[in-house]
Amino acid sequence: MSSSMGDEVSDRSVALMAPDRALLERLRPVAERIFTETFGRLYDPGDFKRFCDGAYRPGGTMSRDFDDPRVHWRVATVQGDPIGYAKLTPLRAPASRPRAGAMELQQIYVLSDWHGAGVAARLMEWGLATARAQGAPDIYLTVFDHNERAKRFYARYGFEEVGRCTFQLGERIDDDRIWRARLDGLKADELGDP
Ligand SMILES: CC(C)(COP(=O)(O)OP(=O)(O)OC[C@H]1O[C@@H](n2cnc3c(N)ncnc32)[C@H](O)[C@@H]1OP(=O)(O)O)[C@@H](O)C(=O)NCCC(=O)NCCS
Repeated sequence: MSSSMGDEVSDRSVALMAPDRALLERLRPVAERIFTETFGRLYDPGDFKRFCDGAYRPGGTMSRDFDDPRVHWRVATVQGDPIGYAKLTPLRAPASRPRAGAMELQQIYVLSDWHGAGVAARLMEWGLATARAQGAPDIYLTVFDHNERAKRFYARYGFEEVGRCTFQLGERIDDDRIWRARLDGLKADELGDP
């Protein structure tokens, strides 16, 4: 996004909030739209629709995560309308030798109109601060290996690749990467990592 006066006004109107159920209901289709604009082209349309139904329908995985008190959320809104979100969970990725209490940034999704506008940065800063406040020594995430924009963004916050995992949608199995950022300032060699 350019730095014209109009865009700066829009940026300032972005609010971050913990969602109540009503906002979560309005976020579900937006989350599906972001997921579709980012990854939809990669998959068989029928498989993709089935996956989205499971994740984003009422009562699907997104709604179930909302009911889990260990899952933390922040939604970015403009004039009350969701434009992106981030979700922080206990570690779920199959990381090797994680430290106790590690957390995972499960999703950081922003509508394409708002990429480069600092919205994702604010969501990331919330995720890092919240994980620290929970006492997490490390924060993990998984990323599709070809998602160059996301990888560049994560690297800015000190995330590094520490492993691999797979993501299956329909018949297709993708090679994802596990990335980690230390939250306690220690470097890998100070921790005896392999
Ligand atoms: C990933 C995401 C959260 C990043 O937020 P953003 O606002 O787009 O990030 P920024 O613009 O601040 O930073 C992106 C970085 O990638 C760079 N970049 C932009 N397009 C790129 C491309 N096609 N290839 C490589 N790098 C790219 C930018 O220059 C910037 O790097 P820099 O800070 O070193 O200059 C956002 O793009 C998004 O929501 N994407 C769709 C959903 C998604 O992929 N989520 C992550 C799933 S793991």
